[in-house]
Amino acid sequence: MEQYVIKGGNPLVGEVEIGGAKNAALAILAAAIMSDETVTIDNLPDVNDINVLLDAIAGIGAVVERVDAHTVRINGSTVSCFSVDYEYIKKIRASYYLLGALLGKYKHAEVALPGGCDIGSRPIDLHLKGFRAMGAVVDIKHGLISAHADSLEGTHIYMDKVSVGATINIMMAAAMASGKTIIENSAKEPHVVDVANFLNRMGASIRGAGTDVIRIEGVTKLHATEYSIIPDQIEAGTFMFAAAATKGDITVKNVIPKHLEATTAKLAEIGCQIEELDDAVRVVATKRLSHTSITTLPYPGFPTDMQPQMTVVLALSEGTSIVTESIFENRFRYVDELNRMGADIRVESNIAIITGVEKYTSARVSAPDLRAGAALVIAGLAAEGVTVVDDIKYIQRGYERFEEKLQSLGASIEKVTTDKEIQKFVLRVS
Ligand code: UD1
Repeated sequence: MEQYVIKGGNPLVGEVEIGGAKNAALAILAAAIMSDETVTIDNLPDVNDINVLLDAIAGIGAVVERVDAHTVRINGSTVSCFSVDYEYIKKIRASYYLLGALLGKYKHAEVALPGGCDIGSRPIDLHLKGFRAMGAVVDIKHGLISAHADSLEGTHIYMDKVSVGATINIMMAAAMASGKTIIENSAKEPHVVDVANFLNRMGASIRGAGTDVIRIEGVTKLHATEYSIIPDQIEAGTFMFAAAATKGDITVKNVIPKHLEATTAKLAEIGCQIEELDDAVRVVATKRLSHTSITTLPYPGFPTDMQPQMTVVLALSEGTSIVTESIFENRFRYVDELNRMGADIRVESNIAIITGVEKYTSARVSAPDLRAGAALVIAGLAAEGVTVVDDIKYIQRGYERFEEKLQSLGASIEKVTTDKEIQKFVLRVS
């Protein structure tokens, strides 16, 4: 089992190149099968989640050609199976985007029902409600969702809750339905816009993505295109918080600063210096930062995917901070681990009450999920002594060459698999 071993205390300094957005890529890859012509997708992050989805796409018969680590060509004309196995869904929930893509294109799809997960119960009722509103018959039997429509009809859908996944899944199906679909109270995340832009580049007619009303005029055919995925705002934010926690000076490059506004605003509020350039953001922290309150919200609010990293920074800041998690019910599981590193955080329901401490002390901790795992690495980078983070398979789902990028900023971090390697590392750094 791979682990990270980290000698904390180095301020991270330098520039880091941000890759393509994992969450946009997952939906775009699924949407690519809707064209019978070859689609080329670039700026793909080379992370485990993407590779699993590409296997799932090849598994239903599409041609998947990996041109290089960050580019793939997909041709959906050979899709011969409309059923996506639990094998993929259990590894990566977002395989459910194949439901919207297959239903839109072939009017039939079967995808294993995703279970709960490490950050709480994650229903997909809104996705299914949308498909049903378009005339699909949706059944759940033996752990499988089956959706079928003799004819998929455009309609007016009001989303009871803002959901990224449901907005994208319904948008994909509606792109090839008959007539007009209107999605109200849609999610506005940058990756919703990216998926809409991609579908439009293939010939779809989608207007309003990025606002809370999306209008889709169904088309009968989607064609070839070449598309480059937007930069990953969560990867960028993670490095920005690493700068704040280690009193460093990091410039994240190849980003869209507008997508990072919720993060930059909070970092500025607690005392970081922020410099926004055209496609880069610099974060400098020279002194102990101060406390604040945050509540996670749908975009453009503060992202839930950045909540653990922000908490790691606030736990080192002066005074009492309050973090309210309003999107997922179980997203504070890393707090016990952080407290083992010397943090002083009390969780009551969905609220974390944080009393800032001067420093973290090293410990052996376990990554409970993707973003919390990255947050524990940041804590290790700021801590005194040598921290070991177990279960880094979660981190590898969404961060490409994480340790290499951190090393290039001056971090003392290595990927290891045995206790012997950990001991060697300790001898080397002490
Ligand atoms: C996506 C992101 C994830 C991010 C989340 C919120 C991907 C692959 N994942 O997840 O990283 O943390 O957005 O920004 O893009 N809900 C329902 N019924 C549904 C669907 C959602 O009740 O049918 C609820 C969820 O339980 C949650 C809220 O709506 O409380 C938002 O979830 P949603 O935006 O759908 O998250 P995902 O798309 O799963």
